[in-house]
This record gives sequence, C-alpha cells and structure tokens, in this order.
Amino acid sequence: MSAGRLESIVAHSGLGFWNFKRDHDHYFSPQIFTILGLESDEATVENFVSKIFKEDLENFQDSALGTSINKWTLRGPTLQETVEFRVGLAGQVRHVRCSGSIDCDGDGAPLSVLGYLEDVSSAKERETQDLLHLSKMATLGEMTSAIVHEINNPLSVLTNYSLFLQKISPSSPDLELYNRCVEGISKNSKRIAEIVHSVKFFTGGGSSQYLEISSLKAILKETFIICQENMKWKSVAFEFICDEEITLECKPIQISQVLINLICNSVMAISHSDEKWIKINVSVDNDVIKIGVMDSGKGICDSIAKSMTKPYFTTKKREDGTGIGLTICKAIAERHHGRLYYDATSKNTLFVLELPVRQPLN
Ligand SMILES: Nc1ncnc2c1ncn2[C@@H]1O[C@H](COP(=O)(O)OP(=O)(O)OP(=O)(O)O)[C@@H](O)[C@H]1O
Ligand SMILES: [Mg+2]
Repeated sequence: MSAGRLESIVAHSGLGFWNFKRDHDHYFSPQIFTILGLESDEATVENFVSKIFKEDLENFQDSALGTSINKWTLRGPTLQETVEFRVGLAGQVRHVRCSGSIDCDGDGAPLSVLGYLEDVSSAKERETQDLLHLSKMATLGEMTSAIVHEINNPLSVLTNYSLFLQKISPSSPDLELYNRCVEGISKNSKRIAEIVHSVKFFTGGGSSQYLEISSLKAILKETFIICQENMKWKSVAFEFICDEEITLECKPIQISQVLINLICNSVMAISHSDEKWIKINVSVDNDVIKIGVMDSGKGICDSIAKSMTKPYFTTKKREDGTGIGLTICKAIAERHHGRLYYDATSKNTLFVLELPVRQPLN
C-alpha cells in the first residue's frame, strides 16, 4: 500500500496517532492536533498532558502509559493499556480514549510509546443517556412500594368518608358530619393528585427535558414528596432551607433525580443509626448555587470516598444497589456546567451540588 493511501486511511479513521520517544523525537498525526486542540508546533509530552482535565490527570499519570512517557520508567508488567480522560475543546467537554503500547530497550526501560487517541464523546453521551434512564427507573422501582403505600393512605381515608356519607340520612342530615366528609374527601383527593403529579414530574411525563428557569424550592418540594414516605418508614427527619426566590436554569427533572439519589443514599446509610436526619441547605454565591445534602452519618472512609463515583461501585447488596447513583449525579451536574463533590472536611456526611444560576450559551 502506498504511503499516500495509508495517510488517507489514517485521516478518515478519525483516530489520532502519536509516538513518543525517549530521545524526544515525537510524532503526532494531524488528527491529534484536532482532538486535543493543539497547534501544529506543539507536539510535546508536556502539551499533550496539559490538555487533560485536572480531575483525570492523576489517573493518567498513574497509568503505565503516563508513567512511561513522563518518567521513562515502567510502572509494572503492563505494556499495553487504554486510559480515558476528558479535555476541554472550544468550551465543550470531550471524552478521549487513549490506547498505546510500550516498547522497551534491552534493560527493560521504555524506549518508545506508540498509540492513538479517539474522541469517544458521542458514544459516552449515549452511554450516559442509557445510564440516566436506567437509574431513573431503578430509583422509581426502589420507591414504588413507598409510593403505593403513600397513595393507599388517603385512598382508605376516602373509602371511609364515602361510607360515612352513604350513612347520612337524606331526610335529617347530620350537617357537621357531612361537611367533615366533604372536606376530608377533597383534602385526600388533592394529596393523591400531588403524589401522581410528582411521579409524572420525575418520569418526565409532566414536564419537558429542556432547560427551564425553575424555582429551586419547587424542585425541592417535588423531590420531598417523592422521598417522604421512604424517609417516614425509616424514621428519618428531613429539613430543607431554601429561599423562595432562588431560580436556576436547569433541567428540573434531572436536578430532582440527583437529589433523590443523594437522599436515598443517605436514608440507606443512616437507617440503622440512633440519630437519623437529613438536611438540605441552599446558598448562593457569585451566581453559583450550592445545594448541600447532609445526613447524620459521620462521613465516608477514604477508600470508599475515592471510588464511590466510579460506575458500578457499590458497597450494597446486589438487590439494594447497582452503584450507578453517584455516577449519574456527577454526569448530570457536569452537563449543567456544575459539579458534585463529597466534602470530607464536614463533621457529618455532606455532598454538595454546585450549579451555575444560568447556563453558558454553548
Ligand atoms: N450518604 C452516604 N453515606 C455513606 N456512604 C455513602 C453515601 N452515599 C454514597 N455512599 C457510598 O457510595 C457508594 C456508591 O453510591 P451510589 O449511589 O453510586 O451507588 P449505590 O447507592 O450503591 O447504588 P445505586 O445508587 O445504583 O442504587 C454506596 O454504595 C455507599 O457505599
Ligand atoms: Mg445510590
């Protein structure tokens, strides 16, 4: 095959090829510059690494590929590896898959590392969509029994009131009982409508998935209605403090989904403790909204905290958790140009969801 034809195949593959050599004779194929947003005279290890998001840098530097190209030493027996990281390109977060293999000299030290980059953002987006749906359904499944129970309460009250009404004699009606029944029926029907509305809100049936200027307090109220029965069952006290006026540009169902996941995690974590409470506190600083979800737990140990946002990491039994809750929460926060983090400095277990008041234009 001619060199020209090979070059054309490489160009159309969408892959960017790179080759780092210990003697600094580096090579980047044209696609690398596009994927990383580098200029043509920037083909160095430092420029390559500088494009990696700081949150993903440690993982890359610790990998066999990262150790080889940075220190020219082997990290272990691994000579072939795939690592993923994010880079920022024109204000967008891109997911990049980096695969490579290490070639060693006679002393077993890396001599050359050859590999390719692939922009896997679209595949990641599809994967996140699938996970989002899965998580929503799993959360709903978890809460179905609580929701059914919650609807059953006002339903049985309704049945009782209608039985009372049937007993009222039309010729000499007990007006006081009549009024009590009518009021009770109206109140309890409203309660059922409220629960149904919240479930519809959560599953997306009642609201669009577009960005909306939403009242944060309204989102918290909807979230609370969905979770309250679960908390009542486990005797967990709940409190939220949020100014009526706070609004933010967001996909309200997704924000509610994050909060439901965090609350469900808290409920499960403290369900066997003596002290059981969850508090949500909202503050606004410099157009950034901070939603703190704190529970009565005494924090999470380092080894769990380090891995808990990784997909499918769970400390729960198979039937109790899939380990995607926090992964989804993090993805939703990032899609809203915000972040979700665990605050290890807090005395009680605290997760913070940070969101900008308004979303950037692109
Ligand atoms: N509030 C909390 N207190 C203590 N540990 C927590 C808390 N929130 C999360 N964790 C830990 O983080 C792990 C991962 O949480 P995540 O929500 O991602 O998955 P999960 O709750 O295990 O399963 P899923 O949410 O998919 O049903 C949990 O298994 C638990 O060990
Ligand atoms: Mg969870």
